[in-house]
Amino acid sequence: MTDRAETVKALPVEQQDWDEAAPRPEALVESLRSFGYSPETALADLLDNSISAKAVNVDLFFVWDGPDSHVAVVDDGNGMTAEILVEAMRPGCMSPLEARKATDLGRFGLGLKTASFSQARELTVLTRSKGDPDVQIRRWNLDLVAGTGQWRLLKTSSSQAERYRERILASGGTAVVWTKCDRLLGDVEKDPEKANDRFLLVAAQVQAHLGMTFHRFLVGRGARKISVNGNAVKPWDPVLQHPATQALGAGDRIPFMGSVITARPYVLPHRSKLSEEQQKLGAGIRGWTAHQGFYVYRNNRLVVAGDWLGAAGAKDEHTKLARIVVDFDASLDLAWQIDVKKSTARPPGVVMDDLRRLATRTRRSAEEVYRYRGNIVPGLAKGTDRPLIVAWEEFKARSGDVRLRLNRKHPLIEDALSGPASQKRAVERVLKFVEETIPTSLIGIRLAEALDTQSTPYETRPDELVKLLHYALEMMTTAGMARDKAIDELVLLEPFSNFPAITESLRDGAT
Ligand SMILES: Nc1ncnc2c1ncn2[C@@H]1O[C@H](COP(=O)(O)OP(=O)(O)OP(=O)(O)O)[C@@H](O)[C@H]1O
Ligand SMILES: [Mg+2]
Repeated sequence: MTDRAETVKALPVEQQDWDEAAPRPEALVESLRSFGYSPETALADLLDNSISAKAVNVDLFFVWDGPDSHVAVVDDGNGMTAEILVEAMRPGCMSPLEARKATDLGRFGLGLKTASFSQARELTVLTRSKGDPDVQIRRWNLDLVAGTGQWRLLKTSSSQAERYRERILASGGTAVVWTKCDRLLGDVEKDPEKANDRFLLVAAQVQAHLGMTFHRFLVGRGARKISVNGNAVKPWDPVLQHPATQALGAGDRIPFMGSVITARPYVLPHRSKLSEEQQKLGAGIRGWTAHQGFYVYRNNRLVVAGDWLGAAGAKDEHTKLARIVVDFDASLDLAWQIDVKKSTARPPGVVMDDLRRLATRTRRSAEEVYRYRGNIVPGLAKGTDRPLIVAWEEFKARSGDVRLRLNRKHPLIEDALSGPASQKRAVERVLKFVEETIPTSLIGIRLAEALDTQSTPYETRPDELVKLLHYALEMMTTAGMARDKAIDELVLLEPFSNFPAITESLRDGAT
């Protein structure tokens, strides 16, 4: 006797009298469409399946053909036998409680269906497993399910899906094809041009999203190749590879339920240390401020791309350089409350204190880097490979305090100190006076009040900047320096280093 039959037999007598009230397909179909996927998260869910099936190459196709447009995900993974395919097409084919292989990115037995139906009314899967001479095909058409009130899984292909048959026959693997893409396309009949634009935009967004979500699978040994309409998906690592990216220690290892959660905090470089291109790269898909916080990876696949997870305050501009990489394996799915879309995770209560402590420390360091103006070790001047000459230097006093000092080697200060001895003493007196009386706490308060509106020195006084620039140029040329050489030096000096274009324009006398 089967387990199930035994269960039925063992039911108490009050559970023996019943009506069958199975969900009505036509109603359930609409609910299955409403898990809240975006096209990006839906396709990432299909990619999970391809990667779990050991695919090395996964090619996505967005093929525009008005209302007959389709999206296909074609992989060269293990494929499925006819029997497994029918099971795979069943909504809820596997219980989330069932044990899985460590490398399996699935959990609920739903993703293929819920992700596809969120965007399309028709889903065709063509597949061939190694050793199977034939391509196996099954298709869901939601109009048919709703119309017949029956879960009729068709054995025929859609004409769009047919295009991939040869490829699957030749190399094995699986093609998942979406047609009747009502949600993804919007109203094609009403405004085909708009629908076409949207379709192309979605393709570009999907490409970026996959590069972020699967970046660890796209590099190193055994790297997979993913493409969207023939364009290679490029990995995007939230921990920007840059000499000035700081790892704050080795990170935390938090043992939990027989497994380990790791958390590694990073502070990304101040923008003055980044080229324009690096600045853009670090901004990611959603921009610097949105991309701060925890990056949660489940089995190396990114689930959360920058969120404080309730372990710290809001996403502030001044903490935007903080990124903390958190890793756990799928054995902790339940504890992390992983959702079907694999796009949210909630930290288990018992690790919250650890995460809070890490978040506070990382945010504090990030804030220091963000606010930083003068440097203990100055970086390079913008657009050059030479050190910046700062106006203010930071140094560690004997007491251990970090103090600020006006840079006596800055040519403008050198100039003021180059007069007769009595003038030199007077200038030195004023410099010390300024250094000693900087109202640091007042500045702190004002900064905290107006974090978003902090400006670069002289940004709001371009006329003063230009006056100072002319003065400095004249000072240098009077001292015998050639004009071009003097301009080369000026771009290294604060505050001119913040305005390289204005400084450079001195060359042709435009400023
Ligand atoms: N591209 C593919 N190659 C091989 N097998 C696949 C592929 N896509 C799906 N499958 C099979 O279909 C099953 C169902 O996939 P589905 O995405 O619906 O659920 P899941 O991956 O098991 O769990 P989850 O709901 O968490 O995604 C998978 O477990 C796998 O056996
Ligand atoms: Mg899946």
